Amino acid sequence: MSVTLRPVTAADSDRLLAWRNSPAVSAYMYTDHLIGPEEHARWLAGALTASDRRYWIIEDDGAPVGLANLVNIDLTRRRCEWAYYLGEASVRGRGVGAAVELLVLDYVFGTLKLNKLWCEVLLENEGVWKLHQSFGFEREALYRQHVFKAGRFQDVVGLGLLAADWEKARPACAERLAQKGYGPSELTLIAEERG
Ligand SMILES: CC(C)(COP(=O)(O)OP(=O)(O)OC[C@H]1O[C@@H](n2cnc3c(N)ncnc32)[C@H](O)[C@@H]1OP(=O)(O)O)[C@@H](O)C(=O)NCCC(=O)NCCS
Repeated sequence: MSVTLRPVTAADSDRLLAWRNSPAVSAYMYTDHLIGPEEHARWLAGALTASDRRYWIIEDDGAPVGLANLVNIDLTRRRCEWAYYLGEASVRGRGVGAAVELLVLDYVFGTLKLNKLWCEVLLENEGVWKLHQSFGFEREALYRQHVFKAGRFQDVVGLGLLAADWEKARPACAERLAQKGYGPSELTLIAEERG
């Protein structure tokens, strides 16, 4: 039982497009149009090279199951934004997502030494913003009618976690994960030097 985050490569292209276009993922993203090969290729080229972003494939016992990313890494303000999904919906609900949270938060605050991590989640995706809150994120904003999706305007919640919040929340989060079978030796994030 292990969760590993390893950098995305060009060889992941097909699986990423299939996940992103699947209803199990697109239902939770800001846009849900069918993404074609050209739009996907442009996105992937940026994902593989931009110095202010990092993309990882989430592996569950070595099998690729999802995508995690940091975007808008701002070394001046020492903050960045993040998101992730499990493209293989069958693995949801058994702790993989929580393992990703711990790995990414340790990377952001421990390795990159940033001061703040933030994200946006559809208000209706309540389970997910509560999952973030269980890792110490505070709800900082409610953006009304912020995206147009599935034929209607939808509200979005803004969440933020400070380095000091993570220092306080981390021990209990790590303990909770260990109880689910994800101790430190089951969790790996492979970092990538860029920019
Ligand atoms: C968000 C996501 C990655 C969570 O991963 P997961 O492996 O299913 O989550 P876990 O099994 O680690 O759950 C961790 C905790 O969050 C809760 N949780 C997770 N997703 C939930 C949901 N949709 N509704 C209610 N609770 C949820 C779990 O009950 C669990 O609580 P516990 O610690 O008290 O047991 C996954 O559900 C997913 O890919 N969703 C679709 C994409 C998405 O919404 N991404 C976020 C967009 S910002």
